[in-house]
Order: sequence, then structure tokens, then C-alpha cells
Amino acid sequence: MTTDEIADYFQVLEADMENNSNRAEKHIQYDVDMDFRPVTLVDNHRVCEDITILTFDRKVNVQAGEFIFLWLPGIGEKPFSALTDDPFSLVVIDVGEFTHALMDLPVGTEAYVRGPHGIPVDPGEGKKVMAVAGGTGLAAVYQIARDWGNAEVFTGARTAERLYFLEECQKIADVHVATDDGSAGFQGFVTQLLRDRLQGMSADELKDLVFYNCGPEPMVHAAIAVQREFCSDQQIFSAIDYMTKCGVGICGACAAPNGQRLCVDGPFLQAG
Ligand SMILES: Cc1cc2nc3c(=O)[nH]c(=O)nc-3n(C[C@H](O)[C@H](O)[C@H](O)COP(=O)(O)OP(=O)(O)OC[C@H]3O[C@@H](n4cnc5c(N)ncnc54)[C@H](O)[C@@H]3O)c2cc1C
Ligand code: FES
Repeated sequence: MTTDEIADYFQVLEADMENNSNRAEKHIQYDVDMDFRPVTLVDNHRVCEDITILTFDRKVNVQAGEFIFLWLPGIGEKPFSALTDDPFSLVVIDVGEFTHALMDLPVGTEAYVRGPHGIPVDPGEGKKVMAVAGGTGLAAVYQIARDWGNAEVFTGARTAERLYFLEECQKIADVHVATDDGSAGFQGFVTQLLRDRLQGMSADELKDLVFYNCGPEPMVHAAIAVQREFCSDQQIFSAIDYMTKCGVGICGACAAPNGQRLCVDGPFLQAG
């Protein structure tokens, strides 16, 4: 947009606010696909009390690192990583109204998807992907590990019952599991497991690593701290669930502390 066009836009917006109209939207040119496409739920697999895996009836075009918005008419729309693209599936943790509605969503429900949004990841030729996931973060990193191969996945949870999709991960990557209570895998934080692994690597191996972290903010920060002991910021990418609203770079709701907008500059943002 030119400066004149922006001034014009704000004039129309002001008039909209006075007249309760919506002419300003016509001035906005979206360069992403804002159309919703229907998908039908074919399986709702409850992992534990507050985590479920939803599988839909078709493929959705979403590359490793991108995300989509899921719309349930009458309830709203929220952003999610696709656990898998074909068939399209999501893993959801119950934190509020929308995600709660997904917990018992009946098979046969029609929902709508817009996107993909965000930037696909590209670790580069000959690189080794090290994916670190907590909570539903595995959804954001599974396709990265699957599509770029030569990957290791580190996944952590409070207890074994909160782990999911492990067999599928083991088919495409070396998987390291940690639980807080030791009910599966290593007892302790996934970041301890990560440090042990990195300590055993040579300088040549370390320089070819690319890290993708996704999960609760404290876990992601702890993972970055460990990775920085061994590798440079250029090798570290993380997706933290900053509040997201429009998903297309307009509202600023998803800005990281350094100003980068998760929805259009990420969701995976480089450390530093
Ligand atoms: C790129 C991206 C990918 C995501 N992928 C997944 C996924 O694969 N699986 C999954 O379960 N969730 C994912 N999320 C988070 C998901 O969008 C939120 O959990 C959801 O919007 C919550 O909606 P709600 O109506 O259930 O809860 P709300 O009522 O909106 O919120 C409940 C509580 O959670 C907090 N909250 C809500 N959204 C966020 C957020 N984005 N960041 C921080 N706090 C928040 C609110 O402040 C509130 O305290 C992703 C988010 C983003 C931005
Ligand atoms: S969600 Fe609106 S700018 Fe990112």
C-alpha cells in the first residue's frame, strides 16, 4: 500500500466506525488464501483427560512448519499445527472454550479449515533435524522430522498417559522420551535428555544440527539454553504459542518480544 492508500484506508475506517459500516475491508488485499474448506471428522481419539487427536476425512495442503485455522460454526476459529497433512489430523489440548468443544467433537462433524499460514521450514541440505516437543508441540515438529529425514525427536510429558503418536514418530525418526515421573522413558525433563545427547556428539556433528522447538514457553526457553551451550543461534528455531488472532499479519496480536509476528514471520522464529 502507498501512503495515500493507507491514509484513504484510515479515513474509510473512521467513517465505518461512525456509521457502523464495513467498507474498509474492501481496501485490504489479502495475499494468503482466506477461504475456508470443509473437512469432516472421522475419528476422535482421546489420549487422556485433556488431550485428543482429531482425524478428518481428507488431505489438507500444509507443509512442515505451517499452520491452519480451524473454524467450528457457532463456536469460533483458532490456529493449530497439523499433526499430519494426509489425512489431515490435529492434536489438541483443552485450555478454553474452543479446545474444550473439540474434546468430545462427534465423528461426522463438519468443520472448516483456512490456510496454510506461516512459513514452511527449510533446514537445508545435509542438515540433521533435532525436534524438541512438549504438550501438543509434537504436532508442529512431526512433519518436519518426517519430511526432512535424518531426524531425532525429543518429546516430554508429565506422565506416560500424556504421550501420543510415538509409534508413528519411531517410524520416521530416532525418538527420545522423557516423563517427569519416569512412567515412560527417561525420568526428568526432556532438556536433560537433550543435553546428554549433545554432549556425546563431535564438533562436526554439532555443526550440522538444526533445532526445532515447540511446546510450553518454559520448556522452549530451557531447550534453547541447552542448545546454545553447543550450537549457534542460527541453528535454533522455536515456535511459542504467542496469542494469535487474524493469522495474516494485520492485527499484531502475535508479536514476539522482538516484534516479529508469529503468523507471518514464523511460527518457527530463529533464536537471538
Ligand atoms: C501457530 C499455532 C499453532 C498451534 N497449534 C496447536 C496445536 O497443534 N494444538 C493445540 O492444542 N493448540 C495449538 N495452538 C494453541 C491454540 O490455538 C490455543 O490453545 C487455542 O487458541 C485456545 O483456544 P480456546 O478457545 O480453547 O481457549 P481461550 O479461551 O482462547 O484461552 C484459554 C487460555 O489459554 C490462553 N491462550 C489461548 N490461546 C493462546 C495462545 N495462542 N498463546 C498463549 N496463550 C493462549 C488464554 O490466554 C487463556 O488463558 C497453536 C497456536 C498457534 C499460534
Ligand atoms: S495474529 Fe494478527 S498479526 Fe499475527
